[in-house]
Amino acid sequence: MTQILPTAVSLHGSVSIPADKSISHRSAMLSALADGTSRIRNFPRSADPLSTLRVLRGLGVSIHRDNDDVLVVEGVGIDGLRPPDAPLDCGNSGTTMRLMSGILAGQPFGSVLTGDESLQMRPMKRIADPLRAMGGRVTLVDGHAPIRLRPAPEGGLKGTKYRLPVASAQVKSCVLLAGLYARGRTTVIEPTRCRDHTERMLGLETHEVGGEREIYVDGGHRIEPGTWTVPGDFSGAAFFIVAATITPGSEILIENVGLNPSRTALIDVLREMGADIRIENERAEGSEPIGDILVSSAPLHGVEVGGRVIPNLIDEVPVLAVAAACAEGQTVIRDAEELRVKETDRLHAITENLRAMGAEIDERPDGLDIEGNGPNLLGTTVRSFDDHRIAMAMGVAACVAHGPTQVVDAKCARVSFPGFWDELDRLAKPR
Ligand code: S3P
Repeated sequence: MTQILPTAVSLHGSVSIPADKSISHRSAMLSALADGTSRIRNFPRSADPLSTLRVLRGLGVSIHRDNDDVLVVEGVGIDGLRPPDAPLDCGNSGTTMRLMSGILAGQPFGSVLTGDESLQMRPMKRIADPLRAMGGRVTLVDGHAPIRLRPAPEGGLKGTKYRLPVASAQVKSCVLLAGLYARGRTTVIEPTRCRDHTERMLGLETHEVGGEREIYVDGGHRIEPGTWTVPGDFSGAAFFIVAATITPGSEILIENVGLNPSRTALIDVLREMGADIRIENERAEGSEPIGDILVSSAPLHGVEVGGRVIPNLIDEVPVLAVAAACAEGQTVIRDAEELRVKETDRLHAITENLRAMGAEIDERPDGLDIEGNGPNLLGTTVRSFDDHRIAMAMGVAACVAHGPTQVVDAKCARVSFPGFWDELDRLAKPR
């Protein structure tokens, strides 16, 4: 599917965004492992969270939507999963594969996790290493999926102390979930903070030790069933935050968005660039902070971004690059080499696309140099690289491009934001 996008006049109104992908995966997994029935409100129909449901069903967990569209998960308890009949297909979802590996490494039965072409190219040694240190039997194919997990030898997994070599919430969560099945205590040491949904949702103990964060989980930790409400996805909201900022005359409201500080660094960076973003109605939804975001368009200037802030805007770098291309002056993004191992090499993809639209952008090993030239992009044909965040970032660039933009293979937006193109069209329509 090719999406053809005219230049936007301005964006106005209230934006509807899908539920948070990270929290959805975790709410489904933890509900499946809980001792009884849980209900999840606002569970999305995005492809990635649906991959998690497919995998859990393959392990014998019964899941359905009730009349009020609430997801009902019949938790089987941490020891209640059943051996799968076939390889478990994680689709395009790295979070499904890496988190489920932690859970499956602790089972008394074997399993295989596989995924689509992109997922089979993503690095999995980063989870195999700590799982093996815990006694897990994990086989990869040249460092990649399919991942084969076999029961740990006599005595099962053992607790470990693991210092994260990459700031990855997927690796952290994989180890913490395996820790549910390990003898004794598992400690994850996090030198650079990344999203903390797993520890919040499991209610785990954490401590600051010498400038690093330690997270503890004890083997056998039981999970209470309950009712979860998944907040709106900040990473989905990010596309509209940038679109409204760069498109003159825009004013939008995005309600009920997850505002976990380990996710929202884009707001700080955009404000530093001159953006007009207000947060209202801040409150808590379960273990997560949420609120409403009001954005008015504003001229931007370049900025330097790097270091500890990067993991807190890791999924927003492609759309930040679009903002930078439409700002005045230079933006330098560093320490973002993790973008090269996402659904596609995002540093390369965004460079190729923005350059095709006339931007001055250079790829660096761990980042980007962007010479902003105000909103002067040119409409042309760009590719999604089959990556939802690249497709949507290009949709945002199209808002201010001179002439129409065509995004080839745009359907992949459904991985995290099924209604994205309709929503953009609705908000950006000339009136
Ligand atoms: C995620 C963690 C991040 C992020 C991904 C979702 C999660 O990946 O990019 O979209 O839900 O834990 P990494 O852990 O690989 O940084």
